[in-house]
Amino acid sequence: MRRRVSIFGATGSVGCNTVALIEAQGGAEAYEVVALSGAGNVALLAEQARRLRARIAVTVTPGCYPALRAALAGSSVEAAAGAEALVAAAAEPADWTMSAIVGVAGLAPGLAAAARGGVLALANKESLVCAGDLLKRTCAAGGATLIPVDSEHSAIFQALRGERGGEVERIILTASGGPFRDWSRAQMARATLAQAVAHPNWTMGQRISIDSATMFNKALEVLEAKQLFDVAPDQVEVVVHPQSVVHSMVGFRDGAIIAQLGPSDMRGAIGFALNWPRRAPLPVARLDFAALARLDFAPADPARFPALRLAREALALGGLAGAVLNGAKEAALDAFIAGRVGFLDMADLVEHVMERLGADAARHGADAGLDAVMALDAAARRGVAERMDGMALGARTGVWS
Ligand SMILES: NC(=O)c1ccc[n+]([C@@H]2O[C@H](COP(=O)([O-])OP(=O)(O)OC[C@H]3O[C@@H](n4cnc5c(N)ncnc54)[C@H](OP(=O)(O)O)[C@@H]3O)[C@@H](O)[C@H]2O)c1
Repeated sequence: MRRRVSIFGATGSVGCNTVALIEAQGGAEAYEVVALSGAGNVALLAEQARRLRARIAVTVTPGCYPALRAALAGSSVEAAAGAEALVAAAAEPADWTMSAIVGVAGLAPGLAAAARGGVLALANKESLVCAGDLLKRTCAAGGATLIPVDSEHSAIFQALRGERGGEVERIILTASGGPFRDWSRAQMARATLAQAVAHPNWTMGQRISIDSATMFNKALEVLEAKQLFDVAPDQVEVVVHPQSVVHSMVGFRDGAIIAQLGPSDMRGAIGFALNWPRRAPLPVARLDFAALARLDFAPADPARFPALRLAREALALGGLAGAVLNGAKEAALDAFIAGRVGFLDMADLVEHVMERLGADAARHGADAGLDAVMALDAAARRGVAERMDGMALGARTGVWS
C-alpha cells in the first residue's frame, strides 16, 4: 500500500524540497499524495499537484481560487480555498504530514493533522513557540508522532536516539550568526532588506532568512527546543558556528557531547523526517573534512542581537509568552519588509510589546487552547501597530529623534 502524505506550505522553500524528495523516492507511484497547500503561488501549486497526482490542492487565499481551478482544469485534483478548507484538508487521513507553512498561520492546520495521527514532520517552529503544550497534547490525543524538521532540532533528535532524557545535561543550538554576524549595531541600523535576506549558508524563504539576520530565528529555536526536548530553560545554550556544519549538539551528564554534522542543505533534515525511523539514501553532498579543515565556534552576543535576550525572557515568563513574542516578531517583520521600520526597530518593537503583554500571557496554563493563543497573537500584532503609529506621530511632532 502506498504511504499517504500531505504537504502544507508545498510551494515554499521547505515544501519544494519535500516535493523534490518525494519525487526522487518514486513520486506518485510510491506515495499517495492526499493534500498540497500554498497561498499566492497557485501556478506552482497546481503544477506540483498534477505531477504528484494529489487528491486536493488548497490555497489559503480565497481570491486565488479561480486561478487554481483554472490551472487544475482537466485534472483529477480537487481545488479548494480558504483557511477552513486548509484545516479540513489537514484533517484528511494521511500517514505523514509536512507542516511547512510560514508563521503562526501554520498552527491550525498543524493541529488538525496532529489530531488525526500519523507522523507530523514539523518545520513550522512557530507552532511550538506559540502553542507547544497544545500541539504536544493534540499529538498525544491523536496518536501522532512529532518529528522536528528544523535542522538544529533534527540534529538534537538524532543525537538523542537511544539515549535517556534524564541523562541530558544541555542542548547546544548552533547559529550561523546570519549575514550580520560581525556587524556593529551602527551598521545594522542601516541594513537593507536585500542585505538581511542574503543568508551566508542556507537557501531559505524570505521571512526565516531575515529572522536569521536578527537572530529571532535562533530565539524561536530556543523556545522550540525547550518544548520539544522537555528541558529546563538554562539547559538550552546557543553557540555561533559560522560554517553551519555542526547542526547542533547534546551534552550528557558524563561530559560526552554528541553532535550531528552535515552540509547546509535542508534536504538532510526533511529526508530524515520523511524516512524516519529508517534512513534512506539522500541526494545531499557528503562532507569532506580535509576540505573543511576547520570548524569555528564563538559565543552569541545578546547585546548586538537582543532577540536572544527576549527569548530568555519569554522562557522565564512561561505560559503563552511565546505567542506574544512570535506575534510581535511577525508584525515587526512585516513592517521591515514593507520598508516601514529599520532593521533594529524590529527587536525594539518586540521588546515593547513583550513588556506590555508578556505578564498576562504568562498567566495561561498548559491547558490553554487555540483561541487563547490566537487572541494573544492578535493583541501582539495590534501592539506593534500602535507602537508604530505612536512613533510616526512622534516623528511628526518631534518627540522622537
Ligand atoms: N526554509 C528553510 O530552510 C527552513 C529551515 C528550517 C525551518 N523552516 C521553517 O519552515 C517554515 C516554512 O519556511 P519556508 O522558508 O519554507 O517558507 P516560505 O518559503 O516562505 O514558504 C511558506 C509557505 O507557506 C505558504 N504560506 C504563506 N503564508 C501563508 C498563510 N498565511 N497561510 C497558509 N500558507 C501560507 C506559502 O505559500 P505561497 O508560496 O504560495 O505564497 C508557502 O507555501 C517556517 O516555519 C520556517 O521557520 C524553514
